[in-house]
Amino acid sequence: QTDGGVVYRGLAGVTFDQSQITLIDGKQGRLQYRGYSIHDLVEQTTFEETAFLLLNGQLPTTTELDQFKHQLVAAREIPATILELIQLLKDGHPTEVLRTCLSALATFDAERLDGSVTATKARSIRLIAQMPCLIAAHHAIRQGKTPIQPNPTLDHAANFLYMLQGTIPSQQAQQIVNQILILHADHSANASTFAARVVAGTRSDWYAALTAAIAAFAGPLHGGAIEQVIAMIQAIGTPERAADYVANLQANNQPVMGFGHRVYQTEDPRARHLRKAAQALSAQSDNNYYAILEAVVQAMRPYMAKGIDVNVDFYASVIYHLLGIPYDLFVPAFIVGRTVGWLAQIQEQYANNILIRPLLAYVGPIDQPYPALSQRQ
Ligand code: SDX
Repeated sequence: QTDGGVVYRGLAGVTFDQSQITLIDGKQGRLQYRGYSIHDLVEQTTFEETAFLLLNGQLPTTTELDQFKHQLVAAREIPATILELIQLLKDGHPTEVLRTCLSALATFDAERLDGSVTATKARSIRLIAQMPCLIAAHHAIRQGKTPIQPNPTLDHAANFLYMLQGTIPSQQAQQIVNQILILHADHSANASTFAARVVAGTRSDWYAALTAAIAAFAGPLHGGAIEQVIAMIQAIGTPERAADYVANLQANNQPVMGFGHRVYQTEDPRARHLRKAAQALSAQSDNNYYAILEAVVQAMRPYMAKGIDVNVDFYASVIYHLLGIPYDLFVPAFIVGRTVGWLAQIQEQYANNILIRPLLAYVGPIDQPYPALSQRQ
């Protein structure tokens, strides 16, 4: 287009549709799923209840919750061909392998374009249930081991850790993973959700939309930041070196990973709970990663006054590390929670669909005389 209208780079501050899923108030640091405060949800519900809420718009009754949990447990089995695919790709980064498996899963769903309530619910349950199984299967296969079968007595969070580690996790670990999955479940029009909505908006299928979401999520400015936070902690080494490290980044105009957000001008409300969990786990170990993070926070104080504050990835990195999860599984672990949000958002996009097609202000040359090939220099 050549109309030269106002340009909103990065769509910053642009509202592109209405939604009934997640409220974010970036000034006050408020976050609600379907009208319920994230603080109530993280302290009082399980991942399964929150997932039901996000997908269905209301909290489940006891019967609905039981049924939902049973359906999730029953849908965990991964097609054998996908396990063969993982075997072939086993040396890839776990996020790349997961993204490829998601795309491949479409070929097993004859009803992938069926938007009926029944097909949508069954597909969502399958995708939520299988995501941790895919990650754990890849983790086993890349170590030359046979994937650990899901444990039907364990809920989503506990079973994920169990399949990764082969032992039933402690009550504390189960509770923390439950909380982290709830906190990660949705965040409105973030880049990966937007990517999913763009794909769904063309009426492409669910797997295509989720594959796009994972692709967008993996970048270090978005979900990939969680892996970068651990790299930063290791580069810093000891709390005493944090101030110099931060000053050096600032001098070179480089972002401190796990800080800053397009929407929040204050602390991300999810960080409060993640800090608490990271602190609790840290108190039980002699690992200094949490202390390094706190030293980074101190060094960032002057920038926090300008609205550059802790985001969701900052403390989550240390939690996963202290739970014994390998660094390259941090992004996939975040995806286990976020899958629910992507599914709810794709569902909402399809329910009231519109093609998402913004404009670019063309600023290149115009009306150039066409030179023949022989005349070009
Ligand atoms: C997630 O959108 C979501 O909801 C995402 C998410 C979700 O749940 O889906 O919350 C998950 O993606 C969290 C963000 C993870 N990313 C990081 O931790 C990477 C580090 N942070 C950034 O690079 C940055 O803050 C972004 C990418 C998150 C946001 O960038 P913006 O909105 O494009 O802002 P910007 O980079 O243009 O920065 C604006 C100003 C600049 O200063 P000035 O040039 O105006 O003086 O703020 C400064 C920046 O230098 N700034 C930072 C900083 N982030 C912004 N300075 C130091 N460290 C930082 N981290």
